[in-house]
Amino acid sequence: MLTLVLAAALTVATPVLREDNIPEIVSLLTLEEKAAILVGCGSTAFDGIGRNDIGVQGSAGATHAIPRLGIPSIVFADGPAGLRIDPVRPGTEKTFYCTGFPIGTMLASTWNPSLVEEVGRAMGNEVLEYGVDVLLGPGANIHRNPLCGRNFEYFSEDPLLAGLIAAAYIGGVQSNGVGTSIKHFAANNQELNRLHNDARVSERALREIYLRAFEIAVREAQPWTLMTSYNYINGVHASESPWLLTEVLRKDWGFLGTVVTDWGGGYDTAAQIHAGNDLIQSGSDSRYHALIDAVREGRLAIEDVDACVTRALQLIVKCPSFKGYRFSEAPDLEAHAEVCRTAADEGMVLLKNKGALPAGPEGVTALLGVTSYAFIAGGTGSGDVHRPYVVDLQQGLSDGGFTLDAPLDEFYKEYMEDERWRCAMIDGKNSWVIDRERPIEVVPSGLIKAAAERADRAFVTLGRVFGEGKDRDLHYSYHLQDNELQLLRETAAAFHSRGKKVTVILNIGGVVDMQEWQDLADAILVCWQPGEEGGHSVAATLSGAVNPSGRLPMTISKGYEFEPSAANFPRVFEDKPFNYSFYRRLEGNKKDYTVKDVDYTDYEEGIYVGYRYFGTYAPKHVAYPFGYGLSYTTFRWHGMKVSEVPAADGDHTSSAISAAGYLVTVEVKNTGKVAGKDVVELYVKAPGRDMDKPSRELKAFAKTPLLQPGESCTVDLFVSLESLASWNEAKGTWVLEHGRYRFIAARNAADRGISHGVQVK
Ligand code: BGC
Repeated sequence: MLTLVLAAALTVATPVLREDNIPEIVSLLTLEEKAAILVGCGSTAFDGIGRNDIGVQGSAGATHAIPRLGIPSIVFADGPAGLRIDPVRPGTEKTFYCTGFPIGTMLASTWNPSLVEEVGRAMGNEVLEYGVDVLLGPGANIHRNPLCGRNFEYFSEDPLLAGLIAAAYIGGVQSNGVGTSIKHFAANNQELNRLHNDARVSERALREIYLRAFEIAVREAQPWTLMTSYNYINGVHASESPWLLTEVLRKDWGFLGTVVTDWGGGYDTAAQIHAGNDLIQSGSDSRYHALIDAVREGRLAIEDVDACVTRALQLIVKCPSFKGYRFSEAPDLEAHAEVCRTAADEGMVLLKNKGALPAGPEGVTALLGVTSYAFIAGGTGSGDVHRPYVVDLQQGLSDGGFTLDAPLDEFYKEYMEDERWRCAMIDGKNSWVIDRERPIEVVPSGLIKAAAERADRAFVTLGRVFGEGKDRDLHYSYHLQDNELQLLRETAAAFHSRGKKVTVILNIGGVVDMQEWQDLADAILVCWQPGEEGGHSVAATLSGAVNPSGRLPMTISKGYEFEPSAANFPRVFEDKPFNYSFYRRLEGNKKDYTVKDVDYTDYEEGIYVGYRYFGTYAPKHVAYPFGYGLSYTTFRWHGMKVSEVPAADGDHTSSAISAAGYLVTVEVKNTGKVAGKDVVELYVKAPGRDMDKPSRELKAFAKTPLLQPGESCTVDLFVSLESLASWNEAKGTWVLEHGRYRFIAARNAADRGISHGVQVK
């Protein structure tokens, strides 16, 4: 009897983790347990209890559980184009596919945060229902250079667009009670030597461009976690920088969440914990021991460890794993496919249209290009998703009621059977970070000529896929290949000589050269990598069932040599075969500083990224400006008004960008014959007398609802005073320049638009 009472008393005496007893739990954890919470399950050194070998198959990582204190393991999985877990598991017939949504660049091309939030809600539901706690996305790095291999995961060259789209994504995912991890913080703009490259960037460029998207997302949406990047910034590893993680992220911006390393990122575990990088993923035995040894040897204060453990527990108590959520493993993939389709519809960017579109579905369509038969839904690496299917353009057009030129269709189907087999053989041998093998483009000359007689029009799809671990090759990825150019030339010659139009569809993850071939096309539609429903969205856009309303989230220049970062970006693949280990320049923990653009990269262009550079210094080198995109209807804008908003009422966008500012309103009327959505982009030109300022900067944007012909609406755009400030390096603070500003409501970064002068006092 006495034993029983004692046992009961002992049981009662050990508390378990609750939302309101975190300090007590921290005080009860041993140093080993603390290390086990902070260093992820990639480490097996924490013996015994709590190693999570269940997790979710194909997820990226997990934290160790400490069952004696009721601390569960939580699970992280990629991101960002949907949840990435293994679709099949041994011992069951059941499948675990996830919806493959459009890539980040395409979500940004919608310029529609509410739609992106809806995508986030659907994605987050899959995270929840498959038993994952934190989705490793969104990716909010800036498109600094078109050759960055991971640009497809990222949103834009502009931090406001990237930040607001990221905030919407985070809000949507987290509305399910699961977390996000905005990544890769920060200045992770090249893949080459990504673990060791030092990004040398001015503080102004960091604050205004490279950190700004993260700042907006943090202030607006408070992601549960943030992932530090692999690279160094000005000589300090991102995950080891107290300035970045404590001063800027937590103190300046008020980040309340938990910081996690990129997988295997950084070297010095003690420095990471001291800097405020709470979780070390995916974890290793050496990291676990390094943490414990650093505390025992007095190199790491236990207070620093406790601060990280506290933030780790604050994350854990929010997670479904802690709450004991009984996930179904059966999210509604059909409903989410619809969301994917809607997002892809809105992210299409029509670059050129000389009377070619809309076209069909009536008549006969000649469909060309191997990519039409092997659509690219997303990029490669951790940003890829195991989607249940991909609708290619051939299927999308057939489902949309198009009649394809039969001999061409038969030729491609047969050719693609062999090519698919060849690609599968090569891909089977490749590591997941390497380029995915693509079918070789073919030029069926005779069939093209014959099809030009029979068909009413030609659609030609060109594709590019790339991804994590490797930057793009200028010659093979940015430029078109000879056989691709030949296909376009022969198609244009055959169809144009009969007065028939040629439309080119670009199924790409990032910018390609346009100069060499764009005159051959009557219409150019950029469908990016539109996710699993891509072919349906493209077919609907081509036929006019959907009116394109996407806008470019980056500038397309007239050639790579005109890019502001061209002189400071690796081009080493041009003359050497790809060899990943060659570029790993780590010798122990020694950082090498010898090879330009490999060991270090100078961000010489400073704040002059994308349209900020082209608009200010090189407008004539722009092929298609940032923010550009055509519609099948026309819109008239009028009645632009700007009114001052005092601080108290400044909450027009969100609590974060509040304070005083200006409310701009513009009337938008659909003056054409079909329904459509328009985007009003609000740029501001600063006086630029006391400060170096770009010719204009995007400060707000709004997408209209679907306007029927003749219908009007008023869009509201809020510009806070603080968003007009620039970082003053000498003073180490934001400074607002006084004087006369010009507020420009424009269709793109190069458009004169309509404008209004504003005196800022
Ligand atoms: C990538 C991250 C990813 C992580 C986990 C890393 O290689 O850089 O973006 O979330 O792996 O898969």
